[in-house]
Formats: sequence, C-alpha cells, structure tokens
Amino acid sequence: MFERLESAPADPILGLTEAFRADPRDTKINLGVGVFKNDEGKTPSLECVHRAEKILAELEVDRSYLPITGPDTYGKEVRQLLLGPLAAELGGRGMTAQTPGGTGALRVAADFIAKHRPGKVWLSDPTWANHNAIFKAAGLEVKSYRYYDAERRGVNVEGMLEDLSRADESDLVLFHASCHNPTGFDPTPEQWLAVQKVQAARGFLTLFDTAYQGFGDGLDEDVASIRTFAKGKAPFFVASSFSKNFSLYNERIGALTFVGESADEASRVFSHVKIAIRTNYSNPARHGGALVTAVLTNPELKALWETEVAGMRARLRDLRSRLVDALKASGASRDFGFMLKQKGMFSYTGLAPEEVDQLTSKHGVYMVRSGRINVAGITSKNLPRLVSAITDVIG
Ligand code: LMR
Repeated sequence: MFERLESAPADPILGLTEAFRADPRDTKINLGVGVFKNDEGKTPSLECVHRAEKILAELEVDRSYLPITGPDTYGKEVRQLLLGPLAAELGGRGMTAQTPGGTGALRVAADFIAKHRPGKVWLSDPTWANHNAIFKAAGLEVKSYRYYDAERRGVNVEGMLEDLSRADESDLVLFHASCHNPTGFDPTPEQWLAVQKVQAARGFLTLFDTAYQGFGDGLDEDVASIRTFAKGKAPFFVASSFSKNFSLYNERIGALTFVGESADEASRVFSHVKIAIRTNYSNPARHGGALVTAVLTNPELKALWETEVAGMRARLRDLRSRLVDALKASGASRDFGFMLKQKGMFSYTGLAPEEVDQLTSKHGVYMVRSGRINVAGITSKNLPRLVSAITDVIG
C-alpha cells in the first residue's frame, strides 16, 4: 500500500536531537533545539513549578473534560501576562484558548484563518522552520518579508516595511513579539510603531508568536510589541507558550489569544476557534495549565517565578558574552561581537551551512544548519571544546 512512499526528511530542529542521541562521542555538544539548560546541561523543574506540583497533588482532581478553550482563569492569567494593565481595559475584546504549546496555538490559528480568511501568510525571512510547515499544512500560501540584514547584522527595517506594504487586507502577517527565532534580533519600539502604521494602512491581520517572554529584556519589555498593537483598534492574534519561561516543555502548554475590535467580534471569532480546536484535539489537557495557573494566581509563587525567569535571562546573557569573549581570546579569525546585541535563547552565529556540517561531523557539535545556536546548550564544561571546534572550522 505504501510501496512508493518515500521517507520524509528529518525535522530540521527536532531531528537534531535524534541525531545527537545517536552520536556515540562523549564530547558531543547539543546546541540544536531551544531548551533551557543549567550548567550541568540539565532541564529540571523550576522551583515554583515544583511547589505548585505539591499543592496540586493535595487537591481533589475533577477528571472530567476541560472546556474546549480551557479554564477561564488560565485565559485571564495569560492575557494579564501578555497585555498587562491593558487586559482589564480590553475586557471582553480579549479571549484566550489553552492550547497544546505554542505550536498548537499556531495550528489552531492557521486552521481558523484557512477557513475564514484564506489570504497569504507572510513570515519573516528567516523564521522558525516550523512556521512554514504549519501554515502550509493548513493549506495556506506562505510568503516571506525581508527581516535579517546579514551585512549590518540586525533587522532590515526598510526591507521589512517595504515588503509589508505589499501585504493585502486579506493577508495574515506573523511577527515574533521578541527574541526573534532564529536571529535573536528584534525591532526597536520605534520600529514597531512604524510596523503598526503599515498595518493600519494595509489592513492585514496580525499574528504575534511569543515563546520567549522574559528571556530578552524582561517579562513586560518582551511583549511591548503586542501591547503597542493592543493600544490600536485593529484585531490581532497571539500564539504564546509556557514551554520556555516555565520550563514545561513536555507538558505542551500554550495559548491562543484574540483581541477583537469589539467584544462581539471576539466572541464570534472564538465560536469558530472552538470548532478548529474541537476538530483537532477536542479540548486541552489539564496538568500544564493547572501548574501555570497555580503559580500565577499565588503571589508568593508568582514572585518566585519572576525571580527564576530573571535567573534564566541572566544565564543566557552571561553565556552569550562568555562565548564571544572566549572566541576573541582564542584568536578566532572572525569577530563575533555582534552576538552581544542578540536577545533570548538563540544566536545567529553567521556560520555557513557547510561549516555547521563540519562542526557536526568532525567535532560532534549539533546546531541548526542556518548557523543558529541554542545559547543555553553551552556549559562551563563544554565551552572550551566548543570554542576550539569553531576556531578549527573557520580557521
Ligand atoms: C526551537 O526553535 O528550537 C524551539 O522552538 C523548539 C521547537 O519546537 O522547534
């Protein structure tokens, strides 16, 4: 029946984890998938989550289904984190569904868009590899807008605005709210205002993807782009994830939020979002959302969470500058100083795909072929090996 079916290629990101696991070298280094790790290379529970687990374990659990869009309290906490004081002001204009991770939120949004607003989808060039795949899987046409300026090492704002001014009213444009994946370069607040102006002129629908809130400049700062749009009139979606900032990768916990022009519009849109969910995974799983809600609704645990997020942010910054310093000290033939301007979990190293291939085959260093590294994969122990592998490959 499947005689002619050829094998699909490995996933460009998750496939790296499989290849890394299969590599017998004990000197191997995994800088592939974006997972936060401590200096021992481990991803343990956050302390706030550990404490929330204990509290939840004592409670009686109702094992019935959750509502299709998840519990209201979860949605309210998500909007509070994303929109801050604007959440209360927007009232019924904001609605949220609990989803299986940020990916689940993106797919639900894509299914909704494919059915009710099937225009083109504009993604940044480059973007997270799965963005292309998700929107194509939903049957949508994908286009890209200029984003990364390899020469200036930053955001090509002029190119981006020019391309966005070609997006139609029926199109969807996806933005990374902060900590752009894979480049680590974000627009400035002024540049976001310019983007919003183009949106107002062209009338396209906006979808923010935010998976790294708190890993760039701070929990509020990292969603400033979303809040800029929330102050305007135009409706928008937000796909958000707690995988990273709650270290709950394997609980698959995220959210899809819609802010409508009116409460009536939001409620009509969400009646269809519910169908997209029901025909996909029916309704969400309980545990991850219960943990996040237990932390965010408990002032003591929330304060602890904020401290732990600040700790992860500080570690990422420290690792980035340690890598740049060590490369400089080793006499590397290239200046990697530009990496200090990048934010979040990823750094675009500027390494060419062939150099990445060599790093993997010769030194067991795994990273996305675009040259993206997960900074959190660096440890005190593997840093010297990583630096000598890079200097060996680039000469
Ligand atoms: C990544 O880009 O590495 C993360 O978003 C994890 C994933 O699912 O790809």
